[in-house]
Amino acid sequence: MRVPVIAGNWKMNKTILEAESLVKEMLPELLSVKGVERVVCPPFVALASVAALLRDTDIKLGAQNLFWEEKGAYTGEVSPLMLQGLCHDVIIGHSERRQYFGETDETVNRKIKAALSHGLRPIVCVGENLDQNEAGETESFVSLQIEKGMAGLSVAQVRGMIIAYEPIWAIGTGKPATGVGANHIIKTAIREVIGRLFGLETAAAIRIQYGGSVKPDNIVEFMSQPEIDGALVGGASLKASDFVSIVRLSAQAKGLC
Ligand code: PGA
Repeated sequence: MRVPVIAGNWKMNKTILEAESLVKEMLPELLSVKGVERVVCPPFVALASVAALLRDTDIKLGAQNLFWEEKGAYTGEVSPLMLQGLCHDVIIGHSERRQYFGETDETVNRKIKAALSHGLRPIVCVGENLDQNEAGETESFVSLQIEKGMAGLSVAQVRGMIIAYEPIWAIGTGKPATGVGANHIIKTAIREVIGRLFGLETAAAIRIQYGGSVKPDNIVEFMSQPEIDGALVGGASLKASDFVSIVRLSAQAKGLC
């Protein structure tokens, strides 16, 4: 069975002090839920202080981005070498980075390779926009994002990764996909494509999250779906009680507690 994984993407929110107090607030409850992997992804500047609070716990720390070079004249960038040992995970190719910072499937692919070669686990985001959705292009678009993003990776590398299916129209809008709809895309445009490229065992092993307006009142709908192994949570991960509820309800929905 695939272990569910719930990750909180804090985006560009929380100062260092605010990040510390949010983690302190959620930590006791988060630690009490078993059977679900829990990841928090604060902004870069808060990573070190959040890492200190998470030391000796099984809560994982993730970054929200990275650059592919190890060092050099790349003003403002953060390298995989800097994140190695500090973070367990790194979100790659979030739609906001594709939309506002020019990221493409090619840069996503380079970032995935850089993360993997430095022992960081990528959480790779894919998903269609509203126009593509309405034009019936979701499956072809998402499949292509997967094919290009994962180009040149080995079976072992793919097996350990996490993919997040995040329809852009559902992110931050309060209008989530339906559980059945997300399950269908995850099956046909992600898991089956991975099966074709990397084999059925890899497709069966890789964990795929849903993301986009996940809240305590809809998480069970997603986690009840057979192809959905977790969630990438934005807004609701900024409120301790909501994030903890999402984690707890996920464990229950998968029959883990
Ligand atoms: P949201 O964001 O939960 O606020 O919709 C999800 C995401 O962008 O990862």
